Amino acid sequence: MKVYFISKKNSERSSTTARLFEEACHTEGADFVTVFAEGASSLSLPSPEKGDAVLREATGSAARRVERSLLSPQVAHLYSSYERSLLSYPASFVIHEKLGLPIIPTHYINAPVSRTAVREIAGLLGFPLVLKIMGGMKGVGIIQVDSLEGLFSLTDYLCAEEKHFYIRKYVPHGYAVRAVVVGSRIAACYRVKVGTDEFRANVATGEDERGKREVYHCAPELERIILQSVQVMGYELGGVDILLGEDGNFYISEINFPCDLSIVKEVTGIDIPREIVRRLKEKGAAILAEANET
Ligand SMILES: Nc1ncnc2c1ncn2[C@@H]1O[C@H](COP(=O)(O)OP(=O)(O)O)[C@@H](O)[C@H]1O
Ligand SMILES: [Mg+2]
Repeated sequence: MKVYFISKKNSERSSTTARLFEEACHTEGADFVTVFAEGASSLSLPSPEKGDAVLREATGSAARRVERSLLSPQVAHLYSSYERSLLSYPASFVIHEKLGLPIIPTHYINAPVSRTAVREIAGLLGFPLVLKIMGGMKGVGIIQVDSLEGLFSLTDYLCAEEKHFYIRKYVPHGYAVRAVVVGSRIAACYRVKVGTDEFRANVATGEDERGKREVYHCAPELERIILQSVQVMGYELGGVDILLGEDGNFYISEINFPCDLSIVKEVTGIDIPREIVRRLKEKGAAILAEANET
């Protein structure tokens, strides 16, 4: 079986993750094939065979395009179905809210900015509030805003720059939880302590970064929320970010797919890439078995 790994050139995260998956494939007896999204064309792409697998590590539209070219009903992947793999879903909070899952209260405004809408949203959420600008990672683009004046000036700027952003309620929290779901179970979970002079748990503050993260065992209620939050997105893999609110409630912050897997191994010792490759092998074998039956 071949595992086609869609990766990004010159990215430290991509190459670290690629190494983990390459090792996992080696251990599990699968062939690891890297496909770069940059510069790929429909002519240059390989053709996966029945029972092979496609795994995307890179984010962005170019990587998605490559993924859609490689996928077919005959290939294993980490979506709930081939049909799902073709679709673009809205942000997770839109779906989670409708299904009654506990999200961070969130609003959006499409450009051009309406001052009335900004004022109204601020009135509902109160200050401070949080702007989440899409496209960032590791806390970049998560901005605390303390006043209406600050909010107007920032939303004007973001709309002029055609940035896509959300306005969220500020959730006081001492810890954020990262759970990694593979299939229908939580494969690994840890919590991250919020550092000094910072509200974003995932930002390095120069303190003992290793000591900030520790294995976390979810209460059954939180486990149910985490599993459902990924399942309703149609994913078989998800890095779920949850804020443990100081009010005692859980708040789903986001679902990451694909998600960073190197920190998980450092903190929990759990080899998620290996679990993923095993799952893909099972799915690939099921496709071949079904083909042989018919
Ligand atoms: N609404 C919020 N209120 C308070 N803190 C937040 C809020 N949203 C995000 N954060 C903090 O910022 C961190 C990063 O947020 P997240 O949405 O996971 O973005 P990213 O992963 O892109 O950095 C969270 O772990 C949390 O500590
Ligand atoms: Mg996050």
